[in-house]
Amino acid sequence: MNLASVINILADGQFHSGESLGSALGITRAAVWKRLQALSALGLNVESVKGRGYRLRGGLCLLSAPLIQKELTAEGGALLGMLSCFDEVDSTNQFLLSGDAGRGDVCLAERQTAGRGRRGRDWVSPYGQNIYLSLRWQYEQGVTALEGLSLAVGAVVADLLEHEFHLQGLSLKWPNDLMLDERKLGGVLIEVGGDLTGDCAVVVGLGLNVSMSVSSTPEPIGQPWADLLQAGIVVDRNRLAALLISRLLPLLASYPLQGFQRYRSLWLAYAAYLDAPVTVHSQSRSLAGILRGVDGGGSLVVEVDGKQQVFSGGEVSLRSS
Ligand code: BTN
Repeated sequence: MNLASVINILADGQFHSGESLGSALGITRAAVWKRLQALSALGLNVESVKGRGYRLRGGLCLLSAPLIQKELTAEGGALLGMLSCFDEVDSTNQFLLSGDAGRGDVCLAERQTAGRGRRGRDWVSPYGQNIYLSLRWQYEQGVTALEGLSLAVGAVVADLLEHEFHLQGLSLKWPNDLMLDERKLGGVLIEVGGDLTGDCAVVVGLGLNVSMSVSSTPEPIGQPWADLLQAGIVVDRNRLAALLISRLLPLLASYPLQGFQRYRSLWLAYAAYLDAPVTVHSQSRSLAGILRGVDGGGSLVVEVDGKQQVFSGGEVSLRSS
């Protein structure tokens, strides 16, 4: 069932009668009804008022590749390869990992049917309300030159949200969970293809909750979450996407030159639980200590019994204690 056309009409947030929808789409009123049901199943808040018709409460700011391209900085535009904006895709990361994607390619989607998060988790991706963004870059130096990249991405996104949208209360929970007042606002998933010691392709995936709270039937999310709307921030997703791409493509292009060192102090400025008690969980053990920050490669530094211990990626997770 093609839902994009009915969504495009209702995106203005105004009432449309069943009859006018039917004639605009060239379908019967019964078929209109079926589509509206399908929209509700996607989590869209379709309001029906007798005598007035149907509307999407609050409207929708749909993604548009031309609008995003128009808002890119000169540097972002110069580094951009192909920009794909999908109505629906399995995973924007997967799209850029497979097929003919190349350096500077960027993918966004209104909805992901198999969005993925870190540590094998799903990333719940309801339609039209958030940012699901992936960017691809190629490197010749292998992945060791990319140490700390996911932390750098988190730090740049936090900096952008604070300075462009005046968002307060942001923190980064190691390695790269974007938190708003202790609830998860976004996350970064980096995936690598090719030769890990040489020519490789890196896909940086960012999920950022924008207005998920208007979703009428959000799928259960396994942890407390926040979105920009709850923080009183109404954003044009095309502008937000353009700002993100304009910051992240230059980061990817220049990363092997200075590495995480260039972003370490920015990351620390947002670090959650800095100098506070934490517990580090790995598969085999849990260790309590005081979070002392991150080292030059982005590994976690925790003081345990007066001695600094360093933990890197993998299966380590962090909780406040
Ligand atoms: C995390 O678990 O914190 C990372 C979440 C990353 C989600 C994003 S949404 C865009 C991109 N495509 C995916 O399938 N995942 C990432």
